[in-house]
Amino acid sequence: MKTLVLNKPLASVETPLLAVLVAQGSVPKIEENLQRAIASGDYKGKKDETLLVYGSGTAERVLLVGVGKVSEITRTSIRRAAAIAAKRARSLGTKTLALAIAKEARGSLGAAELAQVAIEGTAQGGWQFTELKKQPEDPKPELESVELIVDAGDKDEAEAGRRIGDAIAAGYLLTRNLQMQPGNVCTPRYLAEQAKKLAEQHQFGVTILDLAQIKKEGMGALLAVAQGSAEEPRFIVLEYSGGTGAPIALIGKGVTFDSGGISIKPALNMEDMKFDKSGATAVLGTFEVLGRLKPKINVVGLIPATENLPSGTAIKPGDVVKSHLGKTIEIINTDAEGRLILCDALSYARRFKPAAAIDAATLTGAVVIALGHHAIGMLGNDEVLLAEVRDAGERAGERCWPLPLWDDYRELLKSDVADIKNSGGRAAGTIAGAWFLREFVDSFPWVHLDIAGTAYLEGEGVSHAKGPTAIGVRLFTEFLLKRAGA
Ligand code: BES
Ligand code: MN
Ligand code: ZN
Repeated sequence: MKTLVLNKPLASVETPLLAVLVAQGSVPKIEENLQRAIASGDYKGKKDETLLVYGSGTAERVLLVGVGKVSEITRTSIRRAAAIAAKRARSLGTKTLALAIAKEARGSLGAAELAQVAIEGTAQGGWQFTELKKQPEDPKPELESVELIVDAGDKDEAEAGRRIGDAIAAGYLLTRNLQMQPGNVCTPRYLAEQAKKLAEQHQFGVTILDLAQIKKEGMGALLAVAQGSAEEPRFIVLEYSGGTGAPIALIGKGVTFDSGGISIKPALNMEDMKFDKSGATAVLGTFEVLGRLKPKINVVGLIPATENLPSGTAIKPGDVVKSHLGKTIEIINTDAEGRLILCDALSYARRFKPAAAIDAATLTGAVVIALGHHAIGMLGNDEVLLAEVRDAGERAGERCWPLPLWDDYRELLKSDVADIKNSGGRAAGTIAGAWFLREFVDSFPWVHLDIAGTAYLEGEGVSHAKGPTAIGVRLFTEFLLKRAGA
């Protein structure tokens, strides 16, 4: 998707579709045919409210998209409205979209962030995945370009925002397309190949540990999960060096398919467990953004990648394995595999002496029970970092909500035979998962993001296609850009 910032009177924009974001109660009279709808009160500009008219001027169609009340406008409202516009462009099949934001609809946002989030939104709404269909029903062309129409005085700032929005859009696309790949395509080796490709494109450092090297490294917990599968695991390390000082470690759960293993999952919706690599793909998408924006910061990406399958060689409930850190783990439930592979990644992260580590993982079904599909469950060992991550999530429109990591919960994971067990049962499932990880975090600030409820959507949304959301890419990017002082 090409993006462009233009300064032009709306009345002279030549386009198949001009979308104008408008605020409730102050809809500008930009097009003759719209005037009656607005004057009659039929169209008010409420949140998500749209009106499409066939133009009498240079724009073939004009689409109004409501962002809601002026006092409630945030980055999220603009992103969402832009996504609705792009979705409509998709369904109309217009290939290009011109987008303007009426003055009242800008709230108190600056020109740079308006441009950034508008582009993020169009990338979100314009996405579709047809690559595995020989004959897509009702095929529609890609949204090839988006023109942002801005005031003359805003052009430079908007251009700066466009650059960021563009990079995020690219990361976002990479992540969603990877998320969407089925387990027979996206294997641990495939994920490693993608990481290598990214590294070549953007000159990142890359290290891929294969099975033998993972064994040599002593990652017993990752190996335990992988041992039931014919596909070999990989441990992926990406390094972006753009600044000085200790790096930020981004760690992503890369279970390319989670059947549950011997503690097998029910068949209903099991196909969604191809999305169990969403933490990993968010890290890869963020590296795409880093490669494009080149902020002044150092970042390492760590991805433990494996399948979780039942077989004659699979781990069994009751098995005890030795982790990379040296702690022994009693495996109560083979379906609590995410924490097993992540604990070895957290332990591996020590060698980088990270300034902070953030992991993203589709870790627990319990987070869906707690927060539904609207927030990431957030836990960690450092209040300052927690606040910083939460803030980044607000800016990104990827909201995080804290859950407590009180000492009392550690009891859930007491094992009779080993240092820790990998499941504490149904109570406080998300907290127990995070407590398990915390046991493997050695002397660096760390935040865990449980994205099981937000990594993919089961139905079509107003501003979102059904399926993968690329959650994490925007949050990570906002976090890193702020840290880099950009
Ligand atoms: N990948 C799942 C979590 C998940 C659930 C992701 C729903 C997306 C949607 C994870 O590996 C898992 O199976 N967790 C178990 C942990 C339990 C056995 C302690 C769970 O949540 O049931
Ligand atoms: Mn599982
Ligand atoms: Zn899983």
